[in-house]
Amino acid sequence: MTTLREYLDTTECKDSLKELIELIAMQAVPIREAFIENQSYAGTENASGEEQAALDVWSDDHITKILLESNLVREIASEEKDDIVKNPDAKENYAVVMDPLDGSSLIQVNLCVGTIIGIYDNGNALSLGDELRTAMYMLYGPMTVLTLTVGDGVYIFALKDGVYQMMQGPVSMPQGKIYGSGGLRKDWTNEHGDFISIIEKDGGKLRYSGSFVADFHQILKYGGIYCYPATINNSIGKLRLVYEANPIGFIAKQAGGRISDGKTDLLKKVPEKPSEKTPIYVGSKNLIEQLENIKIR
Ligand code: AHG
Ligand code: MN
Ligand code: MN
Ligand code: MN
Repeated sequence: MTTLREYLDTTECKDSLKELIELIAMQAVPIREAFIENQSYAGTENASGEEQAALDVWSDDHITKILLESNLVREIASEEKDDIVKNPDAKENYAVVMDPLDGSSLIQVNLCVGTIIGIYDNGNALSLGDELRTAMYMLYGPMTVLTLTVGDGVYIFALKDGVYQMMQGPVSMPQGKIYGSGGLRKDWTNEHGDFISIIEKDGGKLRYSGSFVADFHQILKYGGIYCYPATINNSIGKLRLVYEANPIGFIAKQAGGRISDGKTDLLKKVPEKPSEKTPIYVGSKNLIEQLENIKIR
């Protein structure tokens, strides 16, 4: 089986980018080991006004420390930080955007959670999703899985004896029937409810765990759509443009899928501030195009 390093050596990535990708991917090991001591809540809130799980804070601190020590990264924007961390003396021009622990509400019930990472090589964490150089996520399930794109297709690896082995790639997202939606059904707008009804009538299969990265991974493999919509009393939804939509949307696009806010391609949306929220629809191209023709908003 091809290892992560063997795959990266077939790409046009600079050595420093290969080093950064491997460095981040390997943090899956200490993060998984940190679960047992970090089951509680930290008693603090993040910039999104969310209560922070102890593992949110632990993962954020850990990855930030590793990135700063590498001296490869000029900016770090994280779901768990109020402001962008800047390292102007970095020897490279990478900017990392991250959701260090996605699916926090599932930590205590041992369901699949993950780490979402985007890497820019222009030093600017508030760039367009389309400008990402690399997008990846580590998924902590029965296996530790790394899904990665460096802009030339999507590849899936699994960690075995400390080495990421390629399981699949390049991945093409099929047209599928899986769907999941955040927000309470009673709060859905008519347009969103109509869209979900169309999917259900077409034989849609509900799959929604409470972890975006886990729910997306199913859609990457089986096809379908993940929604966290605007609702009647919250027009901006819950998920973040910079840390969640852009990296996952970049992966989706590289696999032939798309990401939208219900009207337009989110990878073309200029981020105004690091923790800005956006409605998210991500998945198979045919479903996103069907959605945009309904003009949800
Ligand atoms: P995070 O744990 O990084 O804050 O993300 C949680 C997100 C996303 O992972 C998940 O799909 C969604 O919140 C679940 O929200 P609800 O609990 O409102 O369904
Ligand atoms: Mn959170
Ligand atoms: Mn998240
Ligand atoms: Mn998170």
